[in-house]
Amino acid sequence: MVLELTPEEREMLDGKHGKATRKAMEIITALGEIYGAKRLIPVSSVQIAGVSYDNLGEAGLEYLSEMAEDGQTMVLTTLNPAGMDMLEWKKHGISPDFAEMQQRVVDAFEKMGVVTTCTCTPYLIGNLPHYGEHIAWAESSAVCFANSVVGAFTNREGGPSALAAALTGRTAEYGLHLEENRMAQVKYEVRADLKDTDDFGLIGQVIGNRTGKLIPYIIGISKASTEELKSFSASVATYGGVAIFHMEGITPNRTTVPEKTEIITKSDLDAARAQLDDEGAEIDFISVGCPHASIKEIAQVAEMLDGKSVTEGKTVWITTAKPTKDLAIKMGYYDKIEKAGAFLVADACCAVAPLKGRFKGLMTDSAKACFYARGKNKFKTEIRTIEECIKEAVR
Ligand code: F3S
Repeated sequence: MVLELTPEEREMLDGKHGKATRKAMEIITALGEIYGAKRLIPVSSVQIAGVSYDNLGEAGLEYLSEMAEDGQTMVLTTLNPAGMDMLEWKKHGISPDFAEMQQRVVDAFEKMGVVTTCTCTPYLIGNLPHYGEHIAWAESSAVCFANSVVGAFTNREGGPSALAAALTGRTAEYGLHLEENRMAQVKYEVRADLKDTDDFGLIGQVIGNRTGKLIPYIIGISKASTEELKSFSASVATYGGVAIFHMEGITPNRTTVPEKTEIITKSDLDAARAQLDDEGAEIDFISVGCPHASIKEIAQVAEMLDGKSVTEGKTVWITTAKPTKDLAIKMGYYDKIEKAGAFLVADACCAVAPLKGRFKGLMTDSAKACFYARGKNKFKTEIRTIEECIKEAVR
């Protein structure tokens, strides 16, 4: 199959729009050829992952600096979490050396015209596509949310391919950009009461583990809040590589429905919880906000911490987007959280910040955070509701 390019796309590939655009177009066309795309399509929004210097390292920074020499974004482009709160990093124990390198990464993106939001929930702070809109997002939880809950069309981009889409305003038309590839392949019936974000994370873990990359059609869940759907999206994408799901009565996409049904019961949920609860975990780190906390979650935490004090020896991070933190400051939530000795951390999260070796055990409401705490940071983990996490913090 031959990938057809418009005259403008051909010019980009020939270097008429600069070095960075040429490199970006090379990436987009190479992907198009690998996946058998017939053409490129315009995208209206991009979310870039691979922002923390802890993950990027020197080589990643060098690549970005090179792209920033003459690269400019063509569409609204936002950023995933960095390795630190870009303003208050000092009080969170981040080293000046790391901070300097992280700042250089964000500066490179800014030079290219990227809106330096540093959040994995761009849809909560102004990068919200609509149903059927073609976008190019990296960050698996946001991809899953955008495809499933919003009904936008995106593949699961990597950092470089998302940046390439931002610099060209294009992506190759393959995979989840095509309606026929978005149909459900496996059906699950949930026969368990899901009460909170931790339960939605656990059900995501169960379905993710069972379904792998197949597209699930889920019945039996009668209602889910935005916060619960972001938790589910993060978890099902982490444990299974799922980039889209359908939830009957809740998500908007049209799909055919597979006939065979697999049942998920409370005991599956209990088994998933048991897997994430390490015996004898010594909890010295509590984190809420994976994916980044909404203003509603921050209000809930602030209310619970009001007038209380975090127990000595424990560190508490509530992680969120900078615009949401600003709103929390305005509403007085920040003061309540920080007066209690917890931190409202913008721009970063417990998985991408350089935290290895700093803590022994993490308590969180997020199944995805447990995955990275164990794998990347070698922490022991316990998964609880947000309420239980905060109770543990001030116990
Ligand atoms: Fe977001 Fe970090 Fe969780 S990027 S989804 S808060 S691991």
